[in-house]
Amino acid sequence: MTITDRQPASVAQSITEAIETRRSIRKLVQEPMNQNDLREILRLASLAPSANNVQPTRFAVIQNPELQQKLQAVSYNQSQITDAPAVIVVYSDMEDFLGNVEETVHPGMGEDQIKARAEGLRGEFQNQDVAQRGQWGVAQANIAFGFLMLAARGLGYDTVPMLGFQPDKVRELLGLPEHVEFAGLLPIGKRAEEGFPHHRHSVERITKFY
Ligand SMILES: Cc1cc2nc3c(=O)[nH]c(=O)nc-3n(C[C@H](O)[C@H](O)[C@H](O)COP(=O)(O)O)c2cc1C
Repeated sequence: MTITDRQPASVAQSITEAIETRRSIRKLVQEPMNQNDLREILRLASLAPSANNVQPTRFAVIQNPELQQKLQAVSYNQSQITDAPAVIVVYSDMEDFLGNVEETVHPGMGEDQIKARAEGLRGEFQNQDVAQRGQWGVAQANIAFGFLMLAARGLGYDTVPMLGFQPDKVRELLGLPEHVEFAGLLPIGKRAEEGFPHHRHSVERITKFY
């Protein structure tokens, strides 16, 4: 199957629908996620671009009521964490990238070019400290976070993005290293409420045309 074969008949329409029908849904149906759909949503989100193709985004998928209870406790007790069949934690790990730079370089480049490119990338990021790299990395993870929400909606699921949690406690709970930076938590499932209609600035309010 080629990439073209996999494309829906009307790509623009399905993207438009996903964007227009996505809204934060905080009550989700309590039935386990279809695991194939979950994988496909993660695969689609993994196609998000990153600068220099560094790919620092990582996912932690939680489908465990006990762990969700603990996650809720460090997320200001927001009930959508335990109301969802799954929660996807989206974070960036720039130190993982730095330890494995070669795997991010396109294999089509050939051995010598891969080495040279990897060396260049290492040099660029080694000049920054861990916190600077972390901030740079989370900007990349945020792009995947957006892709994740739309991929989910495109396959008929709903989500609520969340930054209301204590990062240190979440790191501790999930056994993640101190240097990782979070794009957010994403409870996911089938909608059990309609959510609120969009309330947004007009294009004119937020755009300058030159
Ligand atoms: C980065 C980010 C963090 C958010 N954190 C929370 C949160 O912790 N709890 C919550 O209930 N909603 C959270 N939201 C949801 C926003 O309130 C919501 O996206 C916004 O009001 C627009 O509504 P809509 O998503 O339905 O279009 C967050 C949204 C974003 C993008």
